[in-house]
Amino acid sequence: MLWKLLLAACVSTVLRGALCSTASLRRANDGGGRCLYTFTVPSPAEHSCPEPAAVQELRRQGALQRTEMEALQTRLGLLEVLVSRLAGPGGAGGQGGGLEAAYSATMREKTELQRERDRLEAERQELQNRVDRLRQENSRLRLGQCAPIETPLQDPDQRPPDGSSLDYSSPRFQEFKSLSRLTAFSRVPLVGVHSRAQTPPRGGSDSTGCGELVWIGEPESHRKADSIAGKYGVWMQDPEPVPPYGPEMTWRLDAVGSAVRQLFGYEDFKQLSRGFPSKVLLLPESVESTGAVVYRGSLYYQRRKSRTLLRYDLRTESMATRRELPHAGFHGQYPYSWGGYTDIDLAVDETGLWAIYSTSKAKGAIVLSRLDPDSLEVLHSWETSVRKQSVANAFVICGTLYTVASYTTPNTTVNYSYSTESGHGRVLSIPFQNRYRYNSMIDYNPARRQLFSWDNYHMVTYDVRLGTV
Ligand SMILES: *[C@@H]1O[C@H](CO)[C@@H](O)[C@H](O)[C@H]1NC(C)=O
Ligand SMILES: *[C@@H]1O[C@H](CO)[C@@H](O)[C@H](O)[C@H]1NC(C)=O
Repeated sequence: MLWKLLLAACVSTVLRGALCSTASLRRANDGGGRCLYTFTVPSPAEHSCPEPAAVQELRRQGALQRTEMEALQTRLGLLEVLVSRLAGPGGAGGQGGGLEAAYSATMREKTELQRERDRLEAERQELQNRVDRLRQENSRLRLGQCAPIETPLQDPDQRPPDGSSLDYSSPRFQEFKSLSRLTAFSRVPLVGVHSRAQTPPRGGSDSTGCGELVWIGEPESHRKADSIAGKYGVWMQDPEPVPPYGPEMTWRLDAVGSAVRQLFGYEDFKQLSRGFPSKVLLLPESVESTGAVVYRGSLYYQRRKSRTLLRYDLRTESMATRRELPHAGFHGQYPYSWGGYTDIDLAVDETGLWAIYSTSKAKGAIVLSRLDPDSLEVLHSWETSVRKQSVANAFVICGTLYTVASYTTPNTTVNYSYSTESGHGRVLSIPFQNRYRYNSMIDYNPARRQLFSWDNYHMVTYDVRLGTV
């Protein structure tokens, strides 16, 4: 008979492996002409009824993982102490070769441990999700949500032959009821939900190509730095990533201090907001200020107290190119209005790599140069009429330079643009918010169509909208 087949399917697909095997079955009429099937199984809470095997296995894996995580955490803690001792005064400040090597080795091990911990954390999350799914499925069945009828049918005539031993009102028993609709039993797959980072909406989805900046959204904070070293800094994603790093990989440099050399890498925004880097790189030479960018698998930055530009290859973890930016002012000659030795600011847009700076020949006016990403040579330069020290920050979108009026005023504007295509400047008034009132870095990311910014400890993004030209 059909109902028997249906029930067999129900029992085998749903109950097997997920519920107790001692289920019994009753059939009754709900009075409305529909058949009502009642499953009765001992409660999973009872000792007599072991947990579903799948849940048990997940639990076992979970316990193993916790032990592993705890061990890793302990090793990480010890390493952190070692790292801070090595990096502290009298530590590996760049002098002793032996200490330097020990420091690098320790940092490498720390990075590996952190990666392992993050991997375990992701696995644990997945296991947890699977357990949750099983639990939900269990309680869904328990609550009888698959049946639109609430009241249990207690027709004594329909009791199974061994019904005498069953007490339906006892909490020792759980009733699973179902109408003979197979859909109600649709199986919930035992697949963990991947906890991937939520990608914020990309700006300018209404325009695909290049265009003029017409709108900047509200700032969204992804992380607040927790020490004074992070009052200002620079953070970024590579718009044209190169393996082993993907598009979500997020890099961060806390820029306060005279020997800024630590580059932190996070798998994605979510990991950044949790605060565990998966990568810690110790740069061979110190970074000046907040002008660095990551592009095509390299970190580009200005070497401290010099006009030397450096390209550090993130894959080989070594310096790849160095070149002076001709005549560029540095270390406080032509900074942005907030200071901070922001003399040379690198930028990336849809069209390539740029340097925003000034020279004595330009008498402090902003010079915009297109750079060759491999050789760091200047390919072409444009001179604007705006003094670099009068603007709070600048960024480049689609070959056009934009400057921000204030780094402290909460409601300020982007009030000037310079198009390298036309060679002309223009006065604008596009609202821009410095929500945390001390904005030390603004960069455009062409892949995300967002501005990345560092506003008083906060790493924030802004959506932007471009108008079609
Ligand atoms: C932009 O705003 C700043 C601050 O209000 C002002 O000093 C500057 O002259 C403005 N720039 C232009 C091009 O209007
Ligand atoms: C800034 O602008 C927003 C809306 O754009 C407004 O809600 C807020 O009150 C303004 N803040 C200040 C300090 O003017």
